[in-house]
Amino acid sequence: MLNDCTSARSLLETRRSGRPAEMTGPGPTPDELNAMLAIAARTPDHGKLCPWRFVTVSSLQRDAFADLLLRALAEANPHANDAHREKEAAFAYYPGQLVVLVSAPVPDHKIPLWEQELSCGAAGMNLLHAASALGFVGGWLTGWRAYSERVRAAFCAPGERIAGFIFIGHPARELEERPRPSLTQVVRSWQAPIA
Ligand SMILES: Cc1cc2nc3c(=O)[nH]c(=O)nc-3n(C[C@H](O)[C@H](O)[C@H](O)COP(=O)(O)O)c2cc1C
Repeated sequence: MLNDCTSARSLLETRRSGRPAEMTGPGPTPDELNAMLAIAARTPDHGKLCPWRFVTVSSLQRDAFADLLLRALAEANPHANDAHREKEAAFAYYPGQLVVLVSAPVPDHKIPLWEQELSCGAAGMNLLHAASALGFVGGWLTGWRAYSERVRAAFCAPGERIAGFIFIGHPARELEERPRPSLTQVVRSWQAPIA
C-alpha cells in the first residue's frame, strides 16, 4: 500500500508522489494548506536563513498563470506548435493546489549557497511528506518553464529561482510504485584513507 498513513514510519516507507496530470481535486482547504506549509517550513536550515519561500497560486489565478506560461513559451520556443501550447495550458490548469517553491538564498553569506539550496530541496521534500500525511498526494515538476526568465520574474525577486511547481491533490487512478534503488547501489561503508 502506498502513502500508508497508519504510522509515521509506514508513511515514510511508502510515500509516493502523484502525477499532476493524473490528479483530481479538490485541493487542500486553506487550513489544510497552512498546516502543510507549516510542516514544510520545519526544515533543516543552517543559519536560520529561511532560504526558500512557498508561493501559492489560487484556482482563480490559473487563467493568469496560463497566460504567463504561453507568453513564456512563445519566447522560449518560437517554433512552438499547437501541441506545445496545449501541453502548457494543461499544466497551468492541473487540478488541486499549486505551490511554487522558490529558492531564495541569502547572497554573500557565510553559509554557502550550496547549503542554502540543499535546505530548499529539503523544504520541497517536506511539503510532499506533509501533503501525504494530510491524505493528499504531491507532485513536483520543473521543466523548461522553471528556467524561463519571464516565469522566474513572475514568482521570484532578483537572485531567486524556481525550485519547482508542486501540485497537491488526489490521484485520479491508483498509484503505482516506481523502481527504487537497492541499498547496495546507494550505501557505501567508508574506507578510511591510508595515511
Ligand atoms: C527538482 C525536481 C524536479 C522534477 N521535475 C520533474 C518534471 O519536470 N517532470 C517529471 O515527470 N518529474 C519530475 N520530477 C520527479 C517527480 O516529482 C517525482 O519525484 C518522481 O516521479 C518520483 O516520485 P516519488 O516522489 O514517488 O519518488 C522532479 C523531481 C525533482 C526533485
